[in-house]
Amino acid sequence: MRGSSRVYGDRGGGGGGGGETAAFLAAALCGLLLLTGAADAQSIQRPTAYKTLKGETPLVIAKGGFSGVFPGSSEAAYSFASIASAPDTSWWCDVQLTKDGVGICLGDMDLKNSTIIATVYPARKRTYVVDGASKPGWFSVDFNMSELENVTLTQAIWSRTDKFDYYGYPILSVTDLPVVVKGLPATVTHPSMWLNVQHDIFYRQHGLNMRSYILSTLKSVSVNYISSPELGFLQSISRRVSSKTKLVYRFPDKITSDPSTNKTYSLMLSNLTLIKETAAGIMVPKSYIWPVTGDNYLLPPKSIVQDAHKAGLEIYASDFANDRIIPYNYSYDPLQEYLSFVSNGDFSVDGVLTEFPITASEAIGCFTTLNASKVDHGKPLIISHNGASGDYPDCTDLAYQNAIKDGADMIDCTLQVTSDGVLICMSSINLLDTTNVQTTSFSSLATVIPDIPGVTGVFTFNLTWNNISDGALRPKISSPSSEYYLVRNPKYANQGKFVKFSDFLEYGNDKDLSGIMVIIEHAAFMAESLGFDIIESVTTALSDAGYSNGTAKEVMIQSKDSALLVKFKQQNTKYKLVYTLPQGIGDASSSSLADVKEFAHAVVIDKSSVFKQSLHFIINQTNLVQDLQTAGLAVYAQVFRNEFVSQPWDFFSDATVEINSYVQTVKVDGLITDFPKTVRRYKRNSCTGLGNDAPAYMQTVNVGDLANLIKAQGVPDAQPPAVAPMPVLNESSVDQPAFPPVTPKNAPPGSKPSDAYAVGASACSLLVLACAALLI
Ligand SMILES: *[C@@H]1O[C@H](CO)[C@@H](O)[C@H](O)[C@H]1NC(C)=O
Ligand SMILES: *[C@@H]1O[C@H](CO)[C@@H](O)[C@H](O)[C@H]1NC(C)=O
Ligand SMILES: *[C@@H]1O[C@H](CO)[C@@H](O)[C@H](O)[C@H]1NC(C)=O
Ligand SMILES: *[C@@H]1O[C@H](CO)[C@@H](O)[C@H](O)[C@H]1NC(C)=O
Ligand SMILES: *[C@@H]1O[C@H](CO)[C@@H](O)[C@H](O)[C@H]1NC(C)=O
Ligand SMILES: *[C@@H]1O[C@H](CO)[C@@H](O)[C@H](O)[C@H]1NC(C)=O
Ligand SMILES: *[C@@H]1O[C@H](CO)[C@@H](O)[C@H](O)[C@H]1NC(C)=O
Ligand SMILES: *[C@@H]1O[C@H](CO)[C@@H](O)[C@H](O)[C@H]1NC(C)=O
Ligand SMILES: *[C@@H]1O[C@H](CO)[C@@H](O)[C@H](O)[C@H]1NC(C)=O
Ligand SMILES: *[C@@H]1O[C@H](CO)[C@@H](O)[C@H](O)[C@H]1NC(C)=O
Ligand SMILES: *[C@@H]1O[C@H](CO)[C@@H](O)[C@H](O)[C@H]1NC(C)=O
Ligand SMILES: *[C@@H]1O[C@H](CO)[C@@H](O)[C@H](O)[C@H]1NC(C)=O
Repeated sequence: MRGSSRVYGDRGGGGGGGGETAAFLAAALCGLLLLTGAADAQSIQRPTAYKTLKGETPLVIAKGGFSGVFPGSSEAAYSFASIASAPDTSWWCDVQLTKDGVGICLGDMDLKNSTIIATVYPARKRTYVVDGASKPGWFSVDFNMSELENVTLTQAIWSRTDKFDYYGYPILSVTDLPVVVKGLPATVTHPSMWLNVQHDIFYRQHGLNMRSYILSTLKSVSVNYISSPELGFLQSISRRVSSKTKLVYRFPDKITSDPSTNKTYSLMLSNLTLIKETAAGIMVPKSYIWPVTGDNYLLPPKSIVQDAHKAGLEIYASDFANDRIIPYNYSYDPLQEYLSFVSNGDFSVDGVLTEFPITASEAIGCFTTLNASKVDHGKPLIISHNGASGDYPDCTDLAYQNAIKDGADMIDCTLQVTSDGVLICMSSINLLDTTNVQTTSFSSLATVIPDIPGVTGVFTFNLTWNNISDGALRPKISSPSSEYYLVRNPKYANQGKFVKFSDFLEYGNDKDLSGIMVIIEHAAFMAESLGFDIIESVTTALSDAGYSNGTAKEVMIQSKDSALLVKFKQQNTKYKLVYTLPQGIGDASSSSLADVKEFAHAVVIDKSSVFKQSLHFIINQTNLVQDLQTAGLAVYAQVFRNEFVSQPWDFFSDATVEINSYVQTVKVDGLITDFPKTVRRYKRNSCTGLGNDAPAYMQTVNVGDLANLIKAQGVPDAQPPAVAPMPVLNESSVDQPAFPPVTPKNAPPGSKPSDAYAVGASACSLLVLACAALLI
């Protein structure tokens, strides 16, 4: 449909039309829209008074609409912002002027990043001086409105999906916005309008008059807010706007002085009384409020919010987006960031400018009054993944202590054994994965062990507990998204102490937890090659720690080794047995379910087994969870992470949207997470239990809606490719040969030749060590 854009409103064309996309979006994304009308303010608990200027609920301002998903300032982006966010969400339009004086909504005066202009008019690139700097590009001042007729909108941020660029969304003029509003579904509240005039002087230099454009537009469009970083512009219109239009002075983060006054912004900030003469509020980049250090940690907040309020000014914070790097203090959780601006106990900003308005809406609507009742251990269970490994190195004392503090219901320990037979918690048998071992003298112990798939390792079973714990070896924080250069909490990257299984059992015993999850891998290898009887050792350790007498916490034993679980079962273990299913399966045959049921109470599945995806779009939901639950198995899904690259597009780079789907739609019995804090906060949100009365932004996303929208565009190139059917779990993958007997410890290694792999190992290990060193 590219190139067949419709002509809007008073642009000389037929008008109308704006409704089509909105209605379509609403129908396609009806999961979010379901009974939006029912979600009124009464059912949502909000603080009696926010610490905003007048105690009102902070405003969500959608920058170019929901531009985190759809091309910014497109009809789809605006409509979806209203459909998926708080009812009073404001539509933000960055006004640019065309050569013939029409105001259009576009994020930048250079059209290149957000439209296809460079391909339509390849020869019309120009260079202008903007804010004192030379800037090449395709500027709105060089094109008249009819020339822009076929110039359609595209996603400006390269890391977001470009699949909605193919629809051919036309550039909207300011006067088109009311037409788009008319097209919104009847249940959706009409948005307020926010016009931002970033450059008045530039347009004046090009013979265009922003002031008269805005003033004439006010006659036909009801505008609630007008913002500008040029005080002179606001002054020029201040006497001509009615009292229902608020003027907001905007502080930018780059240019250093206001070109209309030639005063620096820091000077302007020191005289809020001067601003108050013209404006009702100010807008500042979020770092003006919560400053950030060079290494991306938060400093204590400045008093600017209180100062603005004292001066009688509203204050809005800008620059929010779910897929931006935020200070490490927020643990990659954008919702947490909003809460620090609207619900920190000391102050609240009057509004937030965001490209993902759904997350701001959730924060304000459902998370500012968290259920204060003490931790309950009801469904869904929050199971940590290597402790609070999103913030601290896997399986260290810090990771466990914080997992408990953050509200995990169960903490987990993946067992490894040392050369002197001590059981420890460590996420990998290979110390190269979890420690700085390559920088220590233990690096000479690097080998390849044929029974352990993978590469060269320095294995836990080649070091004594003393070697591991005496201080030379440091833990290393996990970084599952390092391919995207997203690292975790660098200040704590090597902090914390390694933990013995016996210490872990102590943590579990005297804390407010529902239980512990013990994960056993490589059990057969331990039995055959190390002569270590893990079943016996675990059973003894648990009863020594008091877990066996039925009064203590629940114990789950998890493994992907069915033979091991069968052996536990044969020994009449009291503990709950949990089977880890292979990754990527889409269903399970009924005979395999019956087999699993023989030895397991519950299963762990990978998140990827629940939703079928193509290019990170969800295209279908499998029946796996339902089938497992029908067979009487509890289902725990793993691994939930906050990093925005870990979720499919359908969850809008928002970990809470994802969790909400797995809880409400998929109905898993537990979530295994690197960030127990995020899941605990989800469980305490004040919109839980509202059912169909839950606000639109807490309704779950319909499976496949975004993919269906792309399909409806009818452009073959845009389709996420079909994917192969997911494999089905069958009996032959569940049934394994019986668990091997334990080889006595000092017996000869038998069939395991210990030198055969030595040559390969030395060549290979250098390479691996070199690579591993780079990652630290
Ligand atoms: C536009 O894209 C270029 C790279 O293609 C980037 O350097 C520039 O910062 C972008 N500008 C804006 C305003 O996003
Ligand atoms: C727009 O520009 C084109 C090309 O320069 C010109 O032919 C056309 O008349 C202009 N339209 C208006 C309304 O100014
Ligand atoms: C836009 O596309 C239509 C259909 O291809 C064409 O008739 C029209 O002339 C184009 N407009 C401009 C300004 O190129
Ligand atoms: C600000 O400085 C520029 C360049 O020196 C000058 O052209 C302009 O008139 C000044 N504006 C005001 C309001 O003083
Ligand atoms: C702030 O601005 C007002 C109004 O222009 C002026 O009267 C006052 O002296 C200024 N205060 C400071 C501290 O500069
Ligand atoms: C952010 O985290 C750092 C490191 O943990 C800490 O020192 C700092 O106090 C935190 N900032 C705030 C505002 O809590
Ligand atoms: C708060 O949580 C408790 C325990 O889960 C629950 O029983 C109660 O209904 C919740 N209260 C509200 C207002 O959600
Ligand atoms: C590590 O332990 C395994 C199993 O006990 C043994 O076969 C191997 O020789 C050891 N490697 C080193 C380097 O000590
Ligand atoms: C490892 O510990 C053992 C005893 O626990 C000790 O004999 C050995 O020297 C240590 N190895 C290193 C490299 O420190
Ligand atoms: C169970 O074990 C715990 C810890 O050892 C102990 O405190 C408790 O008294 C025991 N209870 C029974 C009934 O034996
Ligand atoms: C979606 O998955 C379900 C269950 O596996 C299946 O029955 C259905 O045919 C699938 N739908 C599509 C469109 O592939
Ligand atoms: C069972 O599943 C495995 C792995 O998906 C597959 O290789 C095998 O062919 C399947 N066997 C049967 C009998 O379907």
